[in-house]
Amino acid sequence: MTPSSSKPCESRRFPENCELYPVHGRHMAAVHNNILRGINAIAKHAATVEGDKIKPFLVFALTVFSTFHHHHHLEETFSFPKYEEKLGKGTFTVNYEQHEKFVPQVEQLVHYLKEVQEGKKEYDGKHIVDTIESFSDAMIQHLNEEIATLDAGRMRAAFTAQELKDIDAEFMKIILATTDYYTNLPVVLVCQDPDTAWFPPLPYLIKLATRWWFYRRYKESWEFGPVDLYGNPRE
Ligand SMILES: [Fe+2]
Repeated sequence: MTPSSSKPCESRRFPENCELYPVHGRHMAAVHNNILRGINAIAKHAATVEGDKIKPFLVFALTVFSTFHHHHHLEETFSFPKYEEKLGKGTFTVNYEQHEKFVPQVEQLVHYLKEVQEGKKEYDGKHIVDTIESFSDAMIQHLNEEIATLDAGRMRAAFTAQELKDIDAEFMKIILATTDYYTNLPVVLVCQDPDTAWFPPLPYLIKLATRWWFYRRYKESWEFGPVDLYGNPRE
């Protein structure tokens, strides 16, 4: 099957009449950008947050990292094995291995944040920023290189457009069945990039329910995101 047009898809994830093969790589870039915007927001606020803002900030930070963990988990258990069925076994080995170069430090930071949340450790914003800096280079290298593995030419050579649509539909089903609607969904909305407003490509009703209902449980936490629930920059 050939794409219905050679014009690249720009505004939505799988719109009609445009080139589909770059979409999986573009989607991966948008997910990574969203996660990086969350981690940047943690680094931005960590040193100055105090008093009764610490508790909601910890929820924000832990949710950004749980979203990151969820992303890695879905890659390792669904997307990478699925892509490798056509791209060849081992295509993503280097990407899997790179996870090990920064995930242990991320897990240490998550452990520390949970200890603060449980009252076992004092809040130390500098420690949070220093830990983020200790893994950021390896993390960014990994996030960039993973996108290149999903190069449009490589995808075109291995998949039909329908196969890519089917993988995406299955992936979205898994996301909606495994994500936490009260934490992961609001955090993804408040970390969205206004320049790629098509992301996250959630069903309309779920987006609406997140803005009107799911955000409420931890509403003070989402104020640390770079944009509001509608994608408007906070500054
Ligand atoms: Fe990724």
